[in-house]
Amino acid sequence: MRVLVTGGAGYIGSHTVLTLLERGDDVIVVDNFANSSPVSLERVAGIAGRAARLHTVDVADEDALDAVFTEEKPDAVIHFAGLKAVGESVAEPLRYYRENLGSTFSLLSVMQRHDVRTLVFSSSATVYGDHQNAPYREDGGFLDAANPYGQTKVMIERILTDLAQADPTWRIALLRYFNPIGAHRSGLIGEDPRGVPNNLAPYVAQVAVGRLAEVGVFGDDYATADGTGERDYIHVVDLAEGHVAALEHLRAHAGVRAWNLGTGRATSVLELIAAFERASGRPIPHRVLPRRDGDLAQAWADTTRAEDELGWRAQRGIAEMAEDAWRWQSGNPQGYETAR
Ligand code: UD1
Repeated sequence: MRVLVTGGAGYIGSHTVLTLLERGDDVIVVDNFANSSPVSLERVAGIAGRAARLHTVDVADEDALDAVFTEEKPDAVIHFAGLKAVGESVAEPLRYYRENLGSTFSLLSVMQRHDVRTLVFSSSATVYGDHQNAPYREDGGFLDAANPYGQTKVMIERILTDLAQADPTWRIALLRYFNPIGAHRSGLIGEDPRGVPNNLAPYVAQVAVGRLAEVGVFGDDYATADGTGERDYIHVVDLAEGHVAALEHLRAHAGVRAWNLGTGRATSVLELIAAFERASGRPIPHRVLPRRDGDLAQAWADTTRAEDELGWRAQRGIAEMAEDAWRWQSGNPQGYETAR
């Protein structure tokens, strides 16, 4: 298949590009490197033994994207490109709505014009808001999100649902990710956030490597086993394989449908820190701080639908996630920055 991947140089994008290349797909990456490095794609090519074709284009630039479709004639699209920092989205809501919605409109117009109607969209468990208790089910009702970043995911899911209802030739997968962590086992590609990480796993990894001093644990008085927040961490390579499973499913099924991509298992903040201590062989200093605004006590997936319909199930556990993340972080303490 010829698969066009927007945001293919990013964390989840690069792992998915690698998985596609390894199974023999022809891969086209569209990325503007606003929040990623081209080094990730060079590394992916090194691991796979062949490269994706790169177009340094902003997905929101409809003319430039149209030219890419004319040249490449993709069969399907995986849409990762977008802004994703929760705090930044609260401070700059217009930028988030404009960029995430604008690039999606641009992409959909170009897809329609070129008669490409197979799309896998990068959504998030954030669309469940606090309207359900864990484990979250795809059909659990009302979707909402606590911040503009999450709202862009809710809105795009809605737009795609309306589109598929208006034109039944669309084939759309909405993939609701839980908490992707880890890295490819080579240690050559991984998560490389700009600035101080917002998310727990990259923060812990940077403390382990000595780039940051200590982990702040956001609250230890939740109604959970050890009082800290519980999440469904999923290995990024399992997540990448979930995208391939969704693409395969869409070959045989038109319409729009949402699937959770998680493991169905919960891990607390303290358990994740302990896993990184074991993986790195280093103590990871941490201190309890007040709760972070907008955080939930517990979030994990009901994985039944993905297992039954996509025939996909996450294979890798927390120890492997921490070991692979540590291999990446210790081999690349400054991320991709020093690699050029
Ligand atoms: C966050 C976002 C979510 C987004 C997801 C993926 C919020 C409220 N939610 O999810 O919208 O889709 O990232 O990018 O930001 N924690 C600490 N110390 C830290 C960082 C986190 O204790 O320095 C705790 C949190 O309280 C939480 C857990 O670690 O219990 C996981 O946090 P995080 O990695 O930020 O993910 P989510 O909050 O689940």
